[in-house]
Amino acid sequence: MSIAEKVKLPDLAEIAAMLSLRLPADRESLRARAEATMREHVGDRVYYRGLIEFSNVCARNCYYCGIRAANHRVRRYTLTIEEILAAARSCATLGYGSVTLQSGERRDPAFVDFVCSVVEAVKRETRSAQLPDGLGITLCVGEQSEAAYRRMFAAGAHRYLLRIETSNRTLFEQIHPAHQSYDSRVECLAMLRQIGFQLGTGVMIGLPGQTVSDLAQDILFFDRVGADMIGMGPYLTHPDAPLSAGVCPTQALSRDELLRLTLNMIAATRIVLADVNIAATTALQAVHPLGREAGLRFGANVLMPLATPENVRADYLLYSGKPCVDEGVDECSTCLLGRARSVGREVALNEWGDSPHATRRSR
Ligand code: 5AD
Repeated sequence: MSIAEKVKLPDLAEIAAMLSLRLPADRESLRARAEATMREHVGDRVYYRGLIEFSNVCARNCYYCGIRAANHRVRRYTLTIEEILAAARSCATLGYGSVTLQSGERRDPAFVDFVCSVVEAVKRETRSAQLPDGLGITLCVGEQSEAAYRRMFAAGAHRYLLRIETSNRTLFEQIHPAHQSYDSRVECLAMLRQIGFQLGTGVMIGLPGQTVSDLAQDILFFDRVGADMIGMGPYLTHPDAPLSAGVCPTQALSRDELLRLTLNMIAATRIVLADVNIAATTALQAVHPLGREAGLRFGANVLMPLATPENVRADYLLYSGKPCVDEGVDECSTCLLGRARSVGREVALNEWGDSPHATRRSR
């Protein structure tokens, strides 16, 4: 849906007002409005993306992240193609129609070759009567060259997730080293879209120094870049990341505030963007045991069950308190099914689950 087709895009002040709601009755009407928008534009089923964190090797040094290159306490791993394939096959068997292949960021040619081989193998090996084109594949491997993105697309990945982290340039610069530039991130988003990927982006919520107005701007940014899918969650500290060690030793916001703001953000994003896919991310569950269910009730329609092999789960810690690291692939599947059902929603199995925003564009 283009901006022109929308009845009226709420303006910055209206979005900021939604994000600021605190009273239970006000938040309930925001939630109900988001849910109605969701039902109208994307339906009420929940789509799964099995999350395979295939490598924690990273060449970047984002100040907030636990697997940044400079954190020498991390035990680094990269799964083999066979291990990734095994994880992808379990996803297909469990009925997840799509997987997200995520890793730390590397830009060397060997890595790009590896990613392309993985994508081709997963496509080839997961075709079935239910999924004639194999699993849907979302890549989340950071900033790459245009040539690399083109190869990944040609290999068969059809979605790409690259969070802007914050659309406030100054704040972006505060949480990244000088050579990781805001402009380059925005340029990557434009390239991805131009190449034909379904585009996902998102932000962290509750960053030190971030305002409600920044978050409202983030939603307008999602609209401007034409995002088809949104993944966002609370910012959480990590003991080995400089943003928590130095700049802001404790979480800027309490867990309750983080939960409130993240849910308001999901609802406002649903109301403004209407027909995109929105994930209730794992980080939401880190701030509240029922965080992901709440995300679904506030307008999210995607869950990302962890499908990373158990023996490396504890080595992919972007923030402290990550849930599900002690569970297995099957447990995550059953658990999330129960979570979706507990809030009255059905899970769509064996479907890619592209957002109407994306399918409308490709027609
Ligand atoms: N808290 C919350 N989210 C984080 N990410 C990285 N570090 C953290 C953290 N400390 C998110 C970033 C990145 C995604 C893969 O994980 O938004 O894009």
